[in-house]
Amino acid sequence: MIDKNGVPAERVLDEIRQLRAGDRPVHGGRLFAYVYDPGVGGLDALGAAAHAESAHVNGLDPTAFPSLLAMENWLVGAAGGLLGGGPGSAAPDVVGSVTSGGTESLILAVKAARDARPELTAPRIVVPASGHAAFAKAAHLLRVGLDTVPVDPVTLRPSVADMATAIGPETVLVACSAPSYAHGVVDPVAGIAQVAAAAGVRCHVDACFGGWTLPYLRRLGVPVPPFDFTVDGVTSISVDLHKYAYAPKGVSVLLHRDATLRSPQYFAYADWPGYTMVNPVLASTRSGGPIAAAYATLRHLGDDGYLRLAATTRDAVGTLAAAVRGVDGLRLMAEPESTVVCFTGTDPALDLFVLVDELTARGWHTQPQLRYADLPASVHLTVTASVAPRVAEFGPDLTAAVAAARQAGPVELPADLVALAGSLTPEALTPELIGGLAAGLGLGAGPPDRMAVVNTLLDAAPAALRERLLVEFVGLLQRPTW
Ligand SMILES: Cc1ncc(COP(=O)(O)O)c(C=O)c1O
Repeated sequence: MIDKNGVPAERVLDEIRQLRAGDRPVHGGRLFAYVYDPGVGGLDALGAAAHAESAHVNGLDPTAFPSLLAMENWLVGAAGGLLGGGPGSAAPDVVGSVTSGGTESLILAVKAARDARPELTAPRIVVPASGHAAFAKAAHLLRVGLDTVPVDPVTLRPSVADMATAIGPETVLVACSAPSYAHGVVDPVAGIAQVAAAAGVRCHVDACFGGWTLPYLRRLGVPVPPFDFTVDGVTSISVDLHKYAYAPKGVSVLLHRDATLRSPQYFAYADWPGYTMVNPVLASTRSGGPIAAAYATLRHLGDDGYLRLAATTRDAVGTLAAAVRGVDGLRLMAEPESTVVCFTGTDPALDLFVLVDELTARGWHTQPQLRYADLPASVHLTVTASVAPRVAEFGPDLTAAVAAARQAGPVELPADLVALAGSLTPEALTPELIGGLAAGLGLGAGPPDRMAVVNTLLDAAPAALRERLLVEFVGLLQRPTW
């Protein structure tokens, strides 16, 4: 409850610091998901100071706050220039918007594609199965059909032929990833863009994750296939600045090849008694803080800075991948071609979810990925430059964690839980059942230390049941404090 007389500033900050002590460490190179840390001294302070300068500025009206418009236009220019657009390039008319994140960029790419075809009553999008879940969210929110194209279990990419076959008369957008989040592989963008263009359909490249590193990796000699506006048929690209541009959270850029393609992304409304409204993005009021922080981060790190960070990251990826190769019972899902190391198990006696917990116990926070279609469960590592100084410690800890996981043996769910997971339909989940399941899984008073049992249950359940369980479990955590 809100305090009657308020709380002194220092005490509030102390409270936040104490709360933060329970979080995973955002610095130190041991968290392989959620955070992107370049390990550059002073960058947090710069971002915070820039954020503070513009936190109360409102992006709702660019004429009232030209500072924000100027910074936004600069960010779009920086992203467009990096991704094959700008003066003298194959895509000289690139335009864009700054959004709050990758999900918003993808929703807006789908919205623009849908609203460009108002004559279609049942618009659809074609997305590889490895495409980010945000495409499914966009399809759900915008009531657009989702046609998912399977990925090859070895290359982890969709085939161009399958993508072409999935395009129909109602398709408004074809998507691909550069690279995919789960495995870090780059889709055959040129082929996909070509079949999309041949069908007269937009092609969006989701470079949210790797759009800021792939160009630098290429400059360092890594073989990166064409994926940006240099590819004919690519109509839009998203790139998240709060990922590998290392800006504080809340900033992504959605680029379109030209302003005509972008136009249906906007929402304007003048048919009410209040101010006339024009929103390029989903939010109406939006803080200038994240935009200013991103502006400061990009200006400060500069081109050379990003090149250096990409080289450091590439080396760290190499060492981590070698560590995985060196452990019996593990196999890389794909040879790393960007900044992801993803591995699976080859030995039934080694439970990956137990391994993830054993790594956590040793201070390494990796991300478990549940099995999907032909793909086995896997462990995902998003690698950032801050990992480099710690990377030599990973191999020995991985070996020890694997030994401990083997010794512990695979998770065995209680028989009644297994029976429940096999027989339950999402509709049959009552609040009592959820409560019982949560208690059985140790989810009673917040997230448990060890997640293997929860992951095993989710892994055993079909997707619809997984989704419902996730919603209910997180719903249990999100309860007001009084
Ligand atoms: C390829 C890709 N697209 C989209 C997203 C969604 O981004 P956000 O979490 O910023 O909404 C992510 C996030 O990891 C991603 O990796």
